[in-house]
Amino acid sequence: MLLIETISDLQNKLEQAHRANQTIGLVPTMGALHEGHLSLIKRARKENDLCVVSVFVNPTQFNNAEDLEKYPRTLEQDLQLVSDYADIVFAPSVEEVYRVPATEQYDFGPVAEVMEGPARPGHFNGVGIIVKRLFDWVQPTRAYFGEKDFQQIAVIKTLVRQCGLNLQIVPCPIVREASGLALSSRNRRLTEEERATAANIYRILKASTQLKTTNTQEIRKFVEDEISKYDLFRLEYYEIVDDETLQPVADLNDSNGVVGCITVWANQVRLIDNIRYK
Ligand code: PAF
Repeated sequence: MLLIETISDLQNKLEQAHRANQTIGLVPTMGALHEGHLSLIKRARKENDLCVVSVFVNPTQFNNAEDLEKYPRTLEQDLQLVSDYADIVFAPSVEEVYRVPATEQYDFGPVAEVMEGPARPGHFNGVGIIVKRLFDWVQPTRAYFGEKDFQQIAVIKTLVRQCGLNLQIVPCPIVREASGLALSSRNRRLTEEERATAANIYRILKASTQLKTTNTQEIRKFVEDEISKYDLFRLEYYEIVDDETLQPVADLNDSNGVVGCITVWANQVRLIDNIRYK
């Protein structure tokens, strides 16, 4: 495994692979890697000749200075975790990535105008900026993203379409703790009590798929009521949406694929998760 910190070193290293027509799997991450990331990395390795993992806490996608500051940074551990699977870890500095200032303005349309869009102004533009730059530098055959950030995948697919990029986006299933809590780098910030309570998010989502109704207002009400039973939770949103357009659906029968997306604060920690209804 090779650790690379500059764009020119990365491009020099990859030039050989491109010339030899090797396939490249890219796994973009913000570090603080866990088993969820590892599942993406293992898959990228299996499906490609070369596996590139980027580790970069991207300031332009944080709309909250405290969240950026508190985001865990654990490069040494990250390198150990991926050393058996990644061929290249690209871990640039902020100065390196933003030597060219971040002036790109993307308009991803309706997929970015719901849920995380209004909740985190500028977030998806920042994600678009870093992901497009990584795609340009790496020129991957495939790029792997976790379905925990369900809306992010729809936004990135839109980016690929709008920019006419020739690569495949590979969505990968959420990895959960035994308790059901979706793995997330932010889980490190949970106290024991918060972590135990956070396991109820998935329990509630799962229970909501067993309700007899197909009316999403009733399903939403169930989830909202259940979440409100825990003092340390504050629900930011629960939306039941079409899995491609990400627009709300009124009835589960109105769409071929339907996913419920939730954002809950466990005290000071913002947790997201989702569940498929069909
Ligand atoms: O999902 C993430 O960790 C980030 O949003 C990504 C895709 C690595 C871009 O910084």
